[in-house]
Amino acid sequence: MEIFLDTANVNDVILYKDFIDGVTTNPSLIAKSGRSDYGALIGEICQLVSGSVSVEVTSRERNDVLAEARYLAKIHNNVCVKLPCTWDGLRACRELSAEGISTNLTLCFSASQALLAAKCGATYVSPFLGRLEDCGHDGLTLLEEITGIFEIQGYETRVLAASIRNRKQVIQAALLGVGAVTLPPSILKQCFDHPLTTQGLEIFERDWKSML
Ligand code: E4P
Repeated sequence: MEIFLDTANVNDVILYKDFIDGVTTNPSLIAKSGRSDYGALIGEICQLVSGSVSVEVTSRERNDVLAEARYLAKIHNNVCVKLPCTWDGLRACRELSAEGISTNLTLCFSASQALLAAKCGATYVSPFLGRLEDCGHDGLTLLEEITGIFEIQGYETRVLAASIRNRKQVIQAALLGVGAVTLPPSILKQCFDHPLTTQGLEIFERDWKSML
């Protein structure tokens, strides 16, 4: 399972680069980074990681989406163009896939959207677990449906579990065999931590010092 960092902050990428396979960004994360030179920002992030870096189009209409996607794809070979799961986004996906441009179909909230993304040749499809659960729906059920459909139908599109809010969702996604998860830095940090590990180290250190 690939682990991506959900950030547009270069310092976060530097901090976690040994543990991640790539990065996912979105317009909100780029705005939060405070960088207006986003082409240069994406280039910098791509230099730091060896895997895919998802960058989202902000256009809505198919021709504009295509032009923006082709521009983004030229920034670096590792750019994976994020397209919305919409009529125009899916049509653009079909065309970009045929051109060999890597795509990540984002803002996926239903199995039918994921199915269409796979049929359009998407490289990744990103179901948003956290945002679904924020409004009372079951993100895990959606993930189960999508992974089940892709397995039964033999689709090559990789499921990228997104909008992750806690460690439990990371493990649930891994158990379902998803191809990738994307984690905000705070959740990736939590994956390293356990209070018993911290406590155990303190005990070992105290006992060791008592013998010196
Ligand atoms: C996915 O690629 C998105 O950038 C991200 O996971 C959205 O997460 P959020 O719901 O925490 O904003």
